[in-house]
Amino acid sequence: MLQHRSTESGVAPISASVGTMKILVTGGTGYIGSHTVLSLQEAGHDVVVLDNLVNSSEESLRRVSELTGKTAAFHQVDLVDEPAVEAVFDQHQIDAVIHFAGLKAVGESVQEPLAYYYNNIVGTLNLLRAMDKHNVRSIVFSSSATVYGEHNPIPYIEKMEIGANNPYGRTKEQIEDILSDLGNADDRWHIALLRYFNPVGAHPSGRIGEDPQGIPNNLVPFIAQVAVGRREKLMVFGGDYDTPDGTAQRDYIHVVDLADGHVAALNYIAERAGVRRWNLGSGRGSSVLEVLRSFEKAVGQPIPYEITGRRAGDLPAFWADASSALADLGWSTTKTVDQMCEDHWRWQKNNPYGYNAAEPAAASNA
Ligand code: WQD
Repeated sequence: MLQHRSTESGVAPISASVGTMKILVTGGTGYIGSHTVLSLQEAGHDVVVLDNLVNSSEESLRRVSELTGKTAAFHQVDLVDEPAVEAVFDQHQIDAVIHFAGLKAVGESVQEPLAYYYNNIVGTLNLLRAMDKHNVRSIVFSSSATVYGEHNPIPYIEKMEIGANNPYGRTKEQIEDILSDLGNADDRWHIALLRYFNPVGAHPSGRIGEDPQGIPNNLVPFIAQVAVGRREKLMVFGGDYDTPDGTAQRDYIHVVDLADGHVAALNYIAERAGVRRWNLGSGRGSSVLEVLRSFEKAVGQPIPYEITGRRAGDLPAFWADASSALADLGWSTTKTVDQMCEDHWRWQKNNPYGYNAAEPAAASNA
């Protein structure tokens, strides 16, 4: 068994890479999921993807395969379908799971809490029951900085009390609790809870990237759609925050750095039982206007925008204390906001309608 160098030496342990494993990636056709499939394959692992395709396209996996020369097995399965989840574990000798699958729009979760609790919680319980039944007890869970809620001081630190302020965030918090209780009750479980900050960017090839369905909720995909001519202008939600330029600050992280963070966490827990949580962020805040200027640099021309009122539920600023991921995993972000915008623009410019070859037909009930 590969041994990690002790942190007692004060030297960040190198996340020793483990041998080839077969990893089940739920939600693996999505934005972060597909980039993680690519990182896993580049690290030498075999990948099985389970996804219901409700918010993504299998085309992303075809393109990952182009880039890595490896093919992930794909199962179009909804995690709420427990027999179908079990069948995947019957078919493959899975060593570990990275769990992305779930609904993830904050605003939508406020309108449709039942769908969010059902899909995210029941889906996760079905996954964990199938894992336990098949003696698969290593899991990396896709959590979110949104669990820190609105009362914690910045930078956010993993040991802080959490308390999400929306149904989506509460499903993440409750899944963290489920996994913590499971790991504390049964020391055969190896569990990593990864709290993402704001993922943006795309693989530098421009072949895979973020492909939001409908009007993008998030800042950078919306800017990208303005830049490519799909949207008229960016509405900047609030210019009167107590920040250097009056617009809100967030901790943006390149999706490739984020994907690599999952591989590092997988390596770490491969040999360690117990439950651990890490922030995956840069440790720095960037304002909306700073990101907009950076995107304009990537595009090479101004992007129209208008400063409007604040968006309900938004915080003025938050970013990560990213020190524990560096100390434990030997992982930290490597890419700048400019690189994130360059890579995001390359994807958007080459794929104006995401994975759809042309503009999707307007939904009949639009
Ligand atoms: C960033 C900033 C907006 C759009 C959310 C979720 C979080 C995580 C990441 C899942 C804010 C401003 C945005 C626009 C704008 N998702 N903005 N105009 O809200 O920090 O985090 O996405 O895990 O859980 O809460 O990200 O990209 O929506 O907003 O001015 O059209 O950009 O007000 O200040 P957010 P975001």
